[in-house]
Amino acid sequence: MAESQCPLCGGTGWRLVERVDSNEKPDGMPQRKRAAAATSSGSAKLTWAVPCDCTSARRATRALTRARIPSRYQNCDFENFDTDFWEGGAEAAAWDRSLAQAKLVVQGFAQNYPAGGETGLLLMGPCGVGKTHLAVAALRQLMQRGHDVLFYDYRDLLKELQASYHPDSQISHDGILGSVLRSEVLLLDDVGVGKPSDWVLEMVGHILNKRYNEARVTLLTTSYSDRAEQSREPTQLPSGQFIAPQVKETLSSRIGERVRSRLYEMCRTIEIESADYRREIRHAGRIRS
Ligand SMILES: Nc1ncnc2c1ncn2[C@@H]1O[C@H](COP(=O)(O)OP(=O)(O)O)[C@@H](O)[C@H]1O
Ligand SMILES: [Mg+2]
Ligand SMILES: [Zn+2]
Repeated sequence: MAESQCPLCGGTGWRLVERVDSNEKPDGMPQRKRAAAATSSGSAKLTWAVPCDCTSARRATRALTRARIPSRYQNCDFENFDTDFWEGGAEAAAWDRSLAQAKLVVQGFAQNYPAGGETGLLLMGPCGVGKTHLAVAALRQLMQRGHDVLFYDYRDLLKELQASYHPDSQISHDGILGSVLRSEVLLLDDVGVGKPSDWVLEMVGHILNKRYNEARVTLLTTSYSDRAEQSREPTQLPSGQFIAPQVKETLSSRIGERVRSRLYEMCRTIEIESADYRREIRHAGRIRS
């Protein structure tokens, strides 16, 4: 389908191109429409209709939406993932190395899929270090190669599944669960967010076990780590008030020991040690220009 606002084709999906007639059909151009007109110099001008670029752009966007990749991540790829970013001494150099290492592993996974035999990747690290960016870059590359991929925000998935139990629900429980269980490659983003009730632990365990048993690949990102951490800085509340550094829970305490150990078994773990990219971009404090 064409872009209705497209300035090139006016929404028809076809763009007219003119060529001076050399008695040859231009290479690769479908001859859908052809009109010859005599030019002032006497040579014939041919007008060809070719598919407008907006039709393929639209197709690509639809595929991204079908895979549920959120629009703010739809342009994330390996090329635009910065690994020469931080400025300022040994810590900055270590952050860059950590980003480069993570990119190498995730890109390697995508390039070798499915021959690499990996059953999962678990990207761990604080907020804003680029975990979702890298995971989406892999997902998009696989999608472009024709694999069936699906993005689900962890909390949204659990909310949707819970809402689907309601008798008036428009969405079917089996429909959601089925798509999550069957998609060839699933990205479960921001694992551990939300209240870990018994139902949550059981549901997440079920999804991961089932996918693992059927040899489907699952990519996961989480900002929880295996160490109970004291956050480095005070947290600022939306009101502007600061609260003291908090002890951050571990991944196990968010998803349960059983699910955590399942992840050890099925995933290659990639820990990213860096700082929040978005915040630094905004303050432009410690980045290379
Ligand atoms: N190394 C990087 N190079 C380019 N963009 C980055 C990088 N790290 C993060 N970003 C961008 O910063 C934003 C936050 O990254 P995101 O992947 O959401 O972080 P996380 O999932 O670790 O919280 C995104 O818009 C992402 O594209
Ligand atoms: Mg994320
Ligand atoms: Zn167009």
